[in-house]
This record gives sequence, structure tokens and C-alpha cells, in this order.
Amino acid sequence: MDLIRGKRELQLRADAERAGGHRIALVPTMGALHAGHLSLVELARSRTDRVWVSIFVNPTQFNQNSDFEGYPRDLEADIETCRANGVDLVYAPEVADLYPQDDQTWVDVEELSRPLCGARRPGHFRGVATVVAKLLLAAKPHVAIFGEKDFQQLAIIRRMVGDLGIDVEILGGPILREPDGLALSSRNVHLGPAAREQAVALVEALDAVERLVASGERSRDTLVAALRARLGEAPLAVIDYAELRDPDTLELAPETLSGPVLLALAVNFQRDPSGAGAPVRLIDNRVVVAVPREP
Ligand code: PAJ
Repeated sequence: MDLIRGKRELQLRADAERAGGHRIALVPTMGALHAGHLSLVELARSRTDRVWVSIFVNPTQFNQNSDFEGYPRDLEADIETCRANGVDLVYAPEVADLYPQDDQTWVDVEELSRPLCGARRPGHFRGVATVVAKLLLAAKPHVAIFGEKDFQQLAIIRRMVGDLGIDVEILGGPILREPDGLALSSRNVHLGPAAREQAVALVEALDAVERLVASGERSRDTLVAALRARLGEAPLAVIDYAELRDPDTLELAPETLSGPVLLALAVNFQRDPSGAGAPVRLIDNRVVVAVPREP
């Protein structure tokens, strides 16, 4: 497995692979790799004969410098994980490699970045879209893979690639979950034991609403109330948002549902009453289809 630190070197490598008839899949990450990331690597392997992972903690997508500084970093361990999982190449640039001094260029996917996480984290998705554009220009992959866990991020990246005409296929990978249903995230380790137990509220709220939709419930407000009711059973959970939106435009779902609808959750878990753990923000989502009723 190769490790490349500079984008020029990576571009030359991509050119050589392409000239040799190989197909490249890129899995962009910020490191601290877990099984969720590795499920994307596996998906990449099923699609192309060259699997590349980028590891870069992107400063421009953090709202607070302390979050950026505190983000878990263990490049050695991540490189080992990549090696053990059949990754062909790791691109791990320094900040200056992707952000030249005095740079002025940003990618802003305006409308899709407004709601949900974008409303709480100003500038976050501008940072994500910008760095992903830079990563795609550096690695020149045929396919780039992102998790459906970060549904809004995936929607923004798809739109950016379409709007800018970047020649790459964007693929979404399904959410990998713990046995009890909690979506895998590098943040889960910070949950105290009580918060960890209560964190299944997110997936159970999604399950409950999916069942209601399957049984014919079509009222957006009733379904939002059901999401909130299940989350409300977790005493350490503070709801950030619980919304039903159009999966393509991310606009609010109509009052009477018809067709696919995104259930989107973000919940702040407090530390345990015992003092264990730390506050953690968890997100989860699911697309369900409200089949139109027979007239
Ligand atoms: P990061 O949080 O490291 O996530 C890297 C990729 O792993 C993302 O596409 C994310 O959606 C996916 N992922 C995370 N948890 C997952 C799970 N449980 N199941 C499946 N996929 C999962 O997302 C980022 O990094 C950054 O914003 C990035 C796109 C790299 C730009 O900096």
C-alpha cells in the first residue's frame, strides 16, 4: 500500500493508473477510521480495481477551532487499518497542500446547505464542498463514495458534482449500525454508559415512523410528533432537529405525504448523571416511501 502526501504526486499517479486502464474509487475520510468507513472501502472494492482513501481533517468545515484541534487523529493506526483492509493507496495531505496561502476560492452549494445541519453549523458545508472538490481534482477518481449516514453532505456533493460538471460517479453507501441499531460514528465512544443505552432512541424513532408510514399514516405533523415522542423517552436526549424533508431538494415535506420522504434527526446527548462521558451530537436518517393511496 502506498502513502502519498502531495497532490501533485497524487495527480501524476492518477494519470498513470488511468493510462494503464485502471479504475479508481476514492473514499474521502477525516481518519479515526471505524467499521462504517471500512464498509465504504468494501463498496469501493466491488466497483473498481484501485481503492484509494484520503485522510484529512479539514479545518474549513469546523465551526470552532477547538473542535478542529480536538478531532481524534492517529494517522499511523489509520494507515495500518487501510493496509489490513486492502486499500491500495492513502492520500494524507498537510493543510497547506490543499489550502495554498492566500487562497480565495470556495465552493458553496447554496440552497441544499441551508436547512438541517447547515442551519446549525454556518459555513460547515461550504468547507465540505470545497475540500471534496479539491480531493476530486487531486485524486481524479472514476467513483467517489460517501456514507448515507451524512445524508445532507451526500446530497450537497452530488449537486456540486452535477453543477460543476466534474467527471466522477458519486455513490452512497448504506449506514452501518451497531447490533442494537445505533449508527456507527467516531463520536459514539464519548457517550457515557447511560447515554449509550438511550442512544438507540434515534433508530427506534426512525423504525417507529417507518412503521406508521407503512400502515398508511400520511400526516407530516403526526409523524414528526411520533419522532419527537420516541426521542422524548430518552432523558439525556435534547432534540436538535427532527424533520421530514424532500430527499432531493431538502425542502420541508408537504403536510400530506406522497412519495419518498427523508426522516432526519440530530440529537444532543448530555453526559451521564454520574458525570461519565461527554456531550455528543448524534445524527441519523432514513428515506421512506409514502405510497400514494388508491383514489
Ligand atoms: P468522516 O466523518 O470521516 O466520514 C467519512 C465517510 O464515512 C463519510 O462519507 C461518512 O458519511 C461515512 N460514514 C460515517 N459513518 C458511517 C456509517 N456508520 N456507515 C456508513 N458510512 C459512514 O464525512 C467526512 O468525514 C468529511 O466531511 C469528508 C467528506 C471526508 C470531507 O472532509
